[in-house]
Amino acid sequence: IPSNVLQQFSLKDRICVVTGASGGIGSAIAEGYAEAGGHVALWYNRNPAAVEFAKELEKTHGIKAKAFQVDVGDREAVKKGIEETVKEFGRIDVFVANAGIPNSKPLLEMPFAEIEELNRVNADSVVYCARFAGEVFKKQGSGNLIITSSISAHIVNVPVDQPIYNATKAYILHLGRSLAREWRHFARVNIVSPGFFHTAMGASDLVQNEANRMTVLCRQGETREIKGIYLYLASDASSFQTGSDTIIDGGYTL
Ligand code: NAI
Repeated sequence: IPSNVLQQFSLKDRICVVTGASGGIGSAIAEGYAEAGGHVALWYNRNPAAVEFAKELEKTHGIKAKAFQVDVGDREAVKKGIEETVKEFGRIDVFVANAGIPNSKPLLEMPFAEIEELNRVNADSVVYCARFAGEVFKKQGSGNLIITSSISAHIVNVPVDQPIYNATKAYILHLGRSLAREWRHFARVNIVSPGFFHTAMGASDLVQNEANRMTVLCRQGETREIKGIYLYLASDASSFQTGSDTIIDGGYTL
């Protein structure tokens, strides 16, 4: 670990995978990694914006970037995505399990198909990514997993009832903490719990009004304001940190 703090934050030549990289928080994370000199594998599902974004990152930052279409809720697709990423980049240093979907319905009004889809995309996906990335980390003798949870894992937030969403975020938070211990000899695992950020997910008037009313800083966060914590956790600056959970919410949960 370099003693110079700016060098600690460098991701030069590190291979970083980011899921949900077609927009919102995921593309901000990937951009931050590219700005710090990392090579990035952008995993996306339906929205192919990641393909153009990869080209843009390569051109602007002189790093290698490539988009991979992977439905993270599909176990076989994740296995294949890991194989293709390793084939293309040679290894994986950092894996950010960030993809997720919202669903703001009370349990009693939620069709079972939607409950299952939420569990698949928000919870099972992180198990699949951790399992297959973890196998690579173990073989390499090093690795770094970062999981995007939510303040919804910590509090039953308002203005809507969304018990299954909240539960999926609590599940992956504790999964991450548990893996930090299981993988202690070869990889670090940390969690980020964002509050209200200005993305497609947080776009409704209801959410924006709630964020403005209840967040201590009186607004939603911008995605560029979350890049720093993901860079810190991916880099050597956080080398003594594992099993942590960082709430970044403008003071919402105070
Ligand atoms: P977003 O909707 O902009 O991004 C989510 C991304 O996940 C999209 O690119 C989407 O295509 C991708 N995705 C969805 N289903 C997928 C699947 N099956 N396979 C692969 N990719 C899939 O939303 P945002 O805000 O950037 O969300 C990122 C993460 O942050 C999510 O896990 C979300 O739960 C979490 N989060 C967001 C907050 C916010 O206020 N925006 C607050 C707390 C947590």
